[in-house]
Amino acid sequence: MSADGQPALIELRQVTKTYGQGQAAFQALAGIDLSIERGEFVAVMGPSGSGKSTAMNIIGCLDTLSSGSYRFCGVPVETLTRDQCARLRRSYLGFVFQGFNLLRRTSALENVELPLLYRGESAATRARLAREALADVGLSGWEQHTSAELSGGQQQRVAIARAIVTRPAVLLADEPTGNLDTQRSREIMELIKRLNTERGITVVMVTHEPDMAAMARRIVHFIDGRIAADASASDAAALARARA
Ligand SMILES: Nc1ncnc2c1ncn2[C@@H]1O[C@H](COP(=O)(O)OP(=O)(O)O)[C@@H](O)[C@H]1O
Ligand SMILES: [Mg+2]
Repeated sequence: MSADGQPALIELRQVTKTYGQGQAAFQALAGIDLSIERGEFVAVMGPSGSGKSTAMNIIGCLDTLSSGSYRFCGVPVETLTRDQCARLRRSYLGFVFQGFNLLRRTSALENVELPLLYRGESAATRARLAREALADVGLSGWEQHTSAELSGGQQQRVAIARAIVTRPAVLLADEPTGNLDTQRSREIMELIKRLNTERGITVVMVTHEPDMAAMARRIVHFIDGRIAADASASDAAALARARA
């Protein structure tokens, strides 16, 4: 529950995830508690293999948990049918991955239209909303270029446009700047930050860069499938200084 008595936007309770079975079983999440309120900007950090992507995929309804509970706006996600999950994903969640995941020979505009196509919007509405989303990420004039013709930074902008074209409540970004140089990373971060402050989109972002995490208001630190620390960014910065 948040202070205003509303259920949290995202609420994980004692969530575990085990991959494989028997001898080969591996516990990627060992019982995590995480509540995220509307409008937050949360950075997720931690060593490789600590369960960050596993947690993101569960939050994004791309994967299911092994035990525990996940409530989205108070609704237990485990109780949803496959169709209801798909609808939740399409209506409330936007994803950005490290590898952009665009269709290479397809225009920027068509890539951004794709989630609207799944939602059954008309061609005219799709084109209008996709153009607006591309303008929002600074890519007006690039609509007809294929992803293969765009730079890495531009491709990630297209991916962000595709993620926000449905006006999601939450943007989930898993190492969105992992394949970009410092300058391009900074620009993408500033764009994501702006979506949070100006649009009120809740952002959960995995990053290895302390500079990037510092732009978030809260940093959640994963170690060995557990949340080892969860603090506001200013506290986290103070902690880092104290330890130095
Ligand atoms: N599909 C899978 N099958 C088996 N093991 C997996 C699978 N996905 C992830 N893992 C394992 O779970 C652990 C956590 O992975 P992940 O959540 O991707 O970590 P991170 O994103 O923090 O690097 C890793 O040890 C990884 O090898
Ligand atoms: Mg990962």
